Order: sequence, then C-alpha cells, then structure tokens
Amino acid sequence: MNTATVLEIKDISVSFDGFFALSDVKTSVRRNTVHFFIGPNGAGKTTLLDIICAKTKPTSGTVVFYPKNRKPMRLTGMKEHKIVNEGIGRKFQVPSVFVNLTVEENMILSLKGHKGIRDSIFKKPSDEERSHINHILKKVGLEKQMHTRAGILSHGEKQWLEIAMQLVQKPEIIMLDEPAAGMGKPETFKTGEILKEIKKSCTVIVIEHDMDFVKQCADTVTVLHEGRIIAEGGAGEVLADKTVQSVYLGRGEE
Ligand SMILES: Nc1ncnc2c1ncn2[C@@H]1O[C@H](COP(=O)(O)OP(=O)(O)O)[C@@H](O)[C@H]1O
Ligand SMILES: [Mg+2]
Repeated sequence: MNTATVLEIKDISVSFDGFFALSDVKTSVRRNTVHFFIGPNGAGKTTLLDIICAKTKPTSGTVVFYPKNRKPMRLTGMKEHKIVNEGIGRKFQVPSVFVNLTVEENMILSLKGHKGIRDSIFKKPSDEERSHINHILKKVGLEKQMHTRAGILSHGEKQWLEIAMQLVQKPEIIMLDEPAAGMGKPETFKTGEILKEIKKSCTVIVIEHDMDFVKQCADTVTVLHEGRIIAEGGAGEVLADKTVQSVYLGRGEE
C-alpha cells in the first residue's frame, strides 16, 4: 500500500458451492486512475465488483478502502448501502434512468438527500446543487440535453447520463460494468474520453471487452482468467503478453 492506493483487494477467494469464481485475487487500485478488469466470460470480473460493493461475501480475504482525508475502512462485511454512502458508486449493466423525466430531473433524483421521486420533483434543488449538476453534465457532454426527456436520448447518451447520475453523488470510486456495451465506435471512443475526464476527480474501475477502448483510456489493466489474475500492468504491456493473448485466442473479444 502506498499513499496513492484507494482500494486494496487482499487475497479474495469466492466459492459458490465448491466452485471457485475467484481464487486469491490480490491487487490494488490507485487513486485518480482508470483501472480495467478484463478477461473472458466467466473469468470472475462481475463477481469481483460484487465483492467490492459487498453484494457478495468472500469465502476469504478482505477489501480495504482508503478514502481521502478519512480513516481506512474495511468494506468486507459492510452493508451495501453504507458502502455507497461512503463514496463507492456502481453503474449496473441494466439501465436505470427514468425515461419520462428530463436529464436534469434524473440528476436531481440521484442527488444525495433527495429521498423519493415526489420530493425530488417538487423540492427545487438549491443554486449550488444546480450548478453541481451542470458541472457534471458538462463532463459527460450532456449539458445541452438538460431539458430533454431521457427516453429520447440515444443508447450512448443514456449510458453517459447514468455515469453522470453516479458522479453527482461525488463518489471517490465509480465502478462501471461494460459501459460501452452496445455502442458503436464513435460512442465508445467518446465514453473513453469521458472516463479520462472523470478520473481527475474520482477513481474509475471498469470492466470492458473492447480492446481499443482499453488501450485508449486504461492506466492499469488486470487480466482475470478462471478466477485468477494472470497479468497486470499498462495496456500495451498486458495486451502484448503471450498468456493473455492465448486466453483470448479463439474466443474473440466477446
Ligand atoms: N451467484 C452465483 N452462484 C454460482 N455461480 C456463480 C454465481 N455468480 C457467478 N457465478 C459463476 O462464477 C463464475 C464467474 O462469473 P462472473 O463473475 O459473472 O464472470 P464474468 O463477469 O467475468 O463473466 C462463472 O462461472 C459464473 O457462472
Ligand atoms: Mg460479467
């Protein structure tokens, strides 16, 4: 652990009825970086995110979060909603935007302290909250669509809105499971640029299959295969690794 570490994953193993989805996974994530977890289907990537946010309990091992200006905390054993409140957000693969609300209304809903839809819609956000929402929407390139109904956004724009809805809560870490899924090349590229922008103010943990996307914006890449880490490092070095290449060979990039 050094001062730049924001998350330490210590010897995590997860067994589902004797089948090990993760075995002795040990790594650390540095603050203000984009850290990718890649690997073929079934490698254990989603399980690892489930462990970090305490949706799944590890069979052994712990995860420690080193927040800025606060004491380190052990995430293992904590309640899921508590982890979110401590500053670790997660965007799931299934969309969760309200299609009948505008982009801005969706953002207001995501703000901390606004409990429930009624309250969020009828209670006007403060000037400070409004300017914070503007600031975040700019980061994901949706400031011009602020008053657009979310339902008519393109697939890519909906994904960016979901990222923005996480960011508005000022997380220290944001976890994204396949944020570029279903996107074409230009939208995927733009997503990469967005991740590079948001890492300035938070740490980004991301699962993705598109190798061009990985090369575009990864600071660190951890490769999982059958529940174990088989390589870790910068994108260039990791993707040139013979073991990594053989793991992907014949499986495509999914
Ligand atoms: N709740 C569960 N019960 C049993 N097996 C599971 C469960 N969750 C995941 N697995 C298994 O663990 C392995 C890793 O799954 P997952 O983490 O979803 O992989 P990835 O996201 O890399 O595709 C897979 O073989 C999967 O079938
Ligand atoms: Mg998965």
